[in-house]
Amino acid sequence: MSESNLPSAQTEQAQAATEAQALRAQLNRWAHEYYVLDAPSVPDGEYDRVYQQLERLEAAHPELVTPDSPTQRVLGSVLAGLAPVRHAVPMLSIRTETDIEASGAQAFDARIRRELGLTDADPPVEYIAEPKFDGLAMNLRYENGRLVQAATRGDGEVGEDVTHVIRTIRQIPLALHGSGVPPVIEVRGEVYMRGADFERLNERQRAQGEKLFVNPRNAAAGAVRQLDARIAAQRPLSFFAYGLGEVTPPEAGGPQFATHDALLQQLKAWGFPVAPEVCVVHGPAELVAFHQAMGARRAELPYGIDGVVYKVNSLTLQRQLGFVTREPRWAVAHKYPPQEMVTTMQAIDVQVGRTGKLTPVARLAPVFVGGATVTNATLHNVFELRRKRVRVGDAVIVRRAGDVIPEVLGRVEDGSVRRPYVPNFHMPRACPVCGSAVVREHGETDHRCSGGLFCSAQRKQALLHFASRKAMDIEGLGEKLADQLVDQALIHSLPDIYGLQVEQLAGLDRMGEKSAQNLCDALEKSKRTTLARFLYALGIRNVGEATAKDLARHFGTLDALMAADVDALMQVSDVGPIVAASIHTFFAQPHNREVVQQLVAAGVQWSDAEPAPAAQLPLAGKTVVLTGQLPTLTRDEAKDLLEAAGAKVAGSVSKKTSYVVAGAEAGSKLAKAQALGVPVLDEDGMRALLAPEG
Ligand code: IVH
Repeated sequence: MSESNLPSAQTEQAQAATEAQALRAQLNRWAHEYYVLDAPSVPDGEYDRVYQQLERLEAAHPELVTPDSPTQRVLGSVLAGLAPVRHAVPMLSIRTETDIEASGAQAFDARIRRELGLTDADPPVEYIAEPKFDGLAMNLRYENGRLVQAATRGDGEVGEDVTHVIRTIRQIPLALHGSGVPPVIEVRGEVYMRGADFERLNERQRAQGEKLFVNPRNAAAGAVRQLDARIAAQRPLSFFAYGLGEVTPPEAGGPQFATHDALLQQLKAWGFPVAPEVCVVHGPAELVAFHQAMGARRAELPYGIDGVVYKVNSLTLQRQLGFVTREPRWAVAHKYPPQEMVTTMQAIDVQVGRTGKLTPVARLAPVFVGGATVTNATLHNVFELRRKRVRVGDAVIVRRAGDVIPEVLGRVEDGSVRRPYVPNFHMPRACPVCGSAVVREHGETDHRCSGGLFCSAQRKQALLHFASRKAMDIEGLGEKLADQLVDQALIHSLPDIYGLQVEQLAGLDRMGEKSAQNLCDALEKSKRTTLARFLYALGIRNVGEATAKDLARHFGTLDALMAADVDALMQVSDVGPIVAASIHTFFAQPHNREVVQQLVAAGVQWSDAEPAPAAQLPLAGKTVVLTGQLPTLTRDEAKDLLEAAGAKVAGSVSKKTSYVVAGAEAGSKLAKAQALGVPVLDEDGMRALLAPEG
């Protein structure tokens, strides 16, 4: 190397360093926009291009690699174990308010006012209300702005070092953004897995024949304790910040916050995700409103919560209130009734559904979960059952959330308990109801009874489906009656239902003359229907309520639909090859055509609509959300009207929502619409949209 080369080599080195720093800053900004703000400003391809540029640069200049480089999230070596970490400031827990009613929030406020010596004359206390995330508490230690250690809560005093896993979470900054970064700061929050990420992870496990995770919390807990960062990087974890641990004191250059809210705002500015639902509220009524609003939104939130947390907002008041043993007096967790409980699985039965599908059903020791006592829960299918590794006699986790049918999520793992031998569950070879052969088509997970409508279980289910509210809406035709009608051979095929006579019905169990007459009236009334309801009522495989509506709108008449080939069917929005094949096969069966003819001959009727090309409908392409009680329309009626006008009716409000139609006692959806600037209409406003001028 000649002397004269040296200065230019140095320049090149300096240039590379500057470039690497610029690329890292750029990538960190984009990653923050993408993972934290949910608002990417560049396409993924552009991110990848710059990332590869940085990788190349770092490969050519290994000395330039910094620990906070986005290329260094997944570290190579596999750990032998997790090292203990003593927390500089203990990680406390929050007192749980056992009263899950509104009075729980009122009791907390009353206690705070008493402790602070406030009288009725004093103004309401300011609180911050947060979701109680269902994940794992984490302490993230930053020194001079760089993430140096991540530790679990452990027993509150000593946790475990999981830095290698936490570094793989793209939402967590490896280096703090912006200014005012103190020499030492520990950020605390919850590591969790989003519902959608959990579903996708289990989808992958399923495809690979691997064991399924029981719920997002367990999946997150397993991922956090992974010794191999490369495996951890495959488990999609997320993070919400909600507090601090050790921090450089203000007199040594550390930050000073007046309120918890100000602290959260600063954490956001440093690059941490803070849940958008967090809000400042005043007094007990607003605490109650938050508890109720979050409870109502629980099912639609992208992450799991098991309650809400109230914290006194003023940090001065927090200090004044102090702690009782291990819990702060200034915070409380206000829970919701649990949606998951543990009970014993006593047996596995097999149920036959409307389309002949055989479902393994767990018989459970009764357990109160999700607001009801549950004794049966679905196990979905044999493969799912195997992957969950549940056997009769196991302690299992049962979930019941909202309207969803209760399901067995998995068993409670207890390595110390040796399980007695229990033979594996097998699907029966013959239908338990009709004895027909049980078949499983190639590539399908479901076993089916091949008996068709010969199978009384299928007849009963088909009848119940036909009569259900969203189908022909025959009031009074429930399970007990369907059982008798089929068992006493009064109904062999669907059209028989319209031949039933008052005298026949009156002879049945628990049926008087009067209820028999009511049922006949209901049958008569059900004949005036819509094409969409009729199609849905037929119980064609893979044709749900929404598809039936799309089909009716697209074809306009039953004849046009019945004449359609697979290609024509696939022209309908959201109808793919599988659904199209189901519909085509259904109408290709002479038996099914006969059923349709007989139903029409019995007087089932609807008025044919001109097939309106979807784009010409007044609300084509619009998404509408309904909330609260409208003055004259029920929720279903409003939904029908909107859909007939081409709108899509959605369950939750987002930036993409076109309108929110709000009635009395509208809750969080209205608030969210206002926050997002989505137009809000009342019932009259909605009607105006449906029938535009002219
Ligand atoms: S604050 C001193 N805020 O609940 C208060 N905790 O029992 C420290 N949690 O271990 C915690 N969501 O894992 C706080 N918004 C939230 C929370 C939350 C969930 C968990 C956390 C903690 C436990 C407290």
